[in-house]
Amino acid sequence: MKKVFRILGLLLGVFVLAVAGFASYVGISGIPSYQVPAYSTTIVSTPERVAHGEKLVAASCADCHVDPKTGNLSGQLLRDLPKEFGNIYSANITRDQAHGIGSWTDAQVVTLLRTGIGPDGRFRIIMPSFVHMSDDDVASIVAFLRSDHNWTKANPAPSHAQEPSFLSKALVNTVMKPAPMPSAIITEPVPTDAVALGRYLVVGRYKCYDCHSADFKTNNNLEPEKSEGYLAGGNKMLNLQQQTVVTRNLTMDPETGLGDWTPEQFAQAVRFGMSPHGPLAYPMPKYSRLTDAEASAIWAYLQKVPKIKNATPEDGATARL
Ligand code: HEC
Ligand code: HEC
Repeated sequence: MKKVFRILGLLLGVFVLAVAGFASYVGISGIPSYQVPAYSTTIVSTPERVAHGEKLVAASCADCHVDPKTGNLSGQLLRDLPKEFGNIYSANITRDQAHGIGSWTDAQVVTLLRTGIGPDGRFRIIMPSFVHMSDDDVASIVAFLRSDHNWTKANPAPSHAQEPSFLSKALVNTVMKPAPMPSAIITEPVPTDAVALGRYLVVGRYKCYDCHSADFKTNNNLEPEKSEGYLAGGNKMLNLQQQTVVTRNLTMDPETGLGDWTPEQFAQAVRFGMSPHGPLAYPMPKYSRLTDAEASAIWAYLQKVPKIKNATPEDGATARL
């Protein structure tokens, strides 16, 4: 018996040492840096690209990057991030040469959007990476960020230094890694193939699946359909008051998903945040500039996504919070 205890004691000792070693490693190394991928591109700005880029930035960047105090993309404390991650600030991405991205090359901005790696090699945390977005959509975003719009107006305030918690540092030293640069050009499916276009919008352009699958921690950025509970909701997010808002089931399950909705109800919910059950709360974005073709393509694609029964609070599942 005593021998068993001695072995257990030894094992515990080794475990404690390993944890302590890991803790000091994470403490010292902080946010890791990576080799910046070799990549070059020059993006041609056209009025069409700038207009399209404005729509994409409004849908997918503004909520995090527009500071309500300055009215431009100068960055802010992310108030809807769980406190366990520490204090994380979105960066100043205005055209300011010194403190925004005014002096970044197009290739540097694209690399950041694709992989999360900055020109200095530091991995940017919490910032989503747009792995499956088409080259043209990425180019439109860059064209908009270079344009003369109120949001991009040079703001001379430096980005706030990050204050990541131990947990954040541990995550970025273990499971959270930069995405690879795409190995080929990514094009948007043709509009006549509504299902393929819908899939593209859900996984590539707007990343609906990111919020609407089970949990950010089990999402698969490279192969989105392999995310746990793909599009079946249940991801516990926070609003700006740090109250839990659970994402909803977008599969066609008639009881807990959208199986009993009409395409018009769906378009209304996605564009204006009005669901048949009432208004939708932040962080559900309002895709007010979504075209009819986009709304019906997403709807067509959702008909093909495997149904999952997953009740969320609006189905009366409050006990699972
Ligand atoms: C969930 C919030 C969130 C969203 C959505 C988001 N970002 Fe970010 N972004 C961040 C955070 C946080 C950082 C800073 C991360 C760091 O310093 O580690 C950042 C950093 C950046 C940087 C690097 C700037 C620098 O100086 O390091 C760029 C460029 C950028 N974001 C552009 C975008 C664009 C363009 C979009 C939309 C397509 C977008 N972001 C969407 C949170 C977000
Ligand atoms: C930043 C996270 C986020 C993203 C991205 C997102 N959603 Fe949502 N969505 C939510 C949250 C949170 C709710 C629940 C809001 C509430 O409870 O009031 C929601 C609710 C919905 C609803 C209402 C469903 C119901 O049963 O009432 C629909 C429809 C919807 N989202 C569709 C989409 C589509 C389509 C996309 C992509 C174009 C998308 N969402 C992108 C977070 C997100």
